[in-house]
Amino acid sequence: MRKILIQFVHPARSRSKINNTLRAAVEGLDGVTINDLYATYPDFLIDVQREQQLCEEHDAIIFQHPLYWYSTPSIMKEWLDLVLEHGWAYGSQASLLKGKLFLQAITAGGDDSTYRKDGYNEFSLRELISPYRATAKLCNMVWLPPFAVLGIHRGLPEEEIKMHGEDYRRMVIGLRDGTLDIEQGRKEDYLNNDLHAIIRRP
Ligand SMILES: Cc1cc2nc3c(=O)[nH]c(=O)nc-3n(C[C@H](O)[C@H](O)[C@H](O)COP(=O)(O)O)c2cc1C
Repeated sequence: MRKILIQFVHPARSRSKINNTLRAAVEGLDGVTINDLYATYPDFLIDVQREQQLCEEHDAIIFQHPLYWYSTPSIMKEWLDLVLEHGWAYGSQASLLKGKLFLQAITAGGDDSTYRKDGYNEFSLRELISPYRATAKLCNMVWLPPFAVLGIHRGLPEEEIKMHGEDYRRMVIGLRDGTLDIEQGRKEDYLNNDLHAIIRRP
């Protein structure tokens, strides 16, 4: 069984609909730790030792966040800058993140059709998050495509939001229990494209 660390990255939880729903769907699951970065470090003074220890204690790290300016809310960049130290995260002597899974769970206002070469935003989500993929590679982690909830600006029906919460829970449980096929998942644009195809029944 893998231990899962969810780095929850949202600066305004009181105004969050989607990320709160996703979070509620996985809260309290065995083997899953939720670490709320903005709540823990409202002044951005990140406790590097605590964060490194959390990473060491878990086998998969999920950064769950809304897409802000085609990227992440700013504390996540601060986290990467401070926590991923040379000799711990990367470098010839570093192996503490080696083999751990790295995944982003991203919510975005624009829908899938806008995140294409010929769409309004001109770049795919996978292209936009390539710095994180490169970072994961440098740290010898196993990168997975994002779990994505898109099209929020068009106003997702309650049923659809609920379904994304259920999918998120299934995905996290699949990663935890080893029932999610990592190699198959890596071929998808979004990990939640077709969860039936990549998660086998226990
Ligand atoms: C500062 C800011 C920047 C944003 N930038 C983007 C963006 O670049 N692309 C996009 O599709 N949506 C963008 N959005 C929309 C958010 O991604 C969307 O509101 C969020 O994912 C909804 O999740 P929530 O209900 O948990 O807040 C932005 C929103 C804010 C507040």
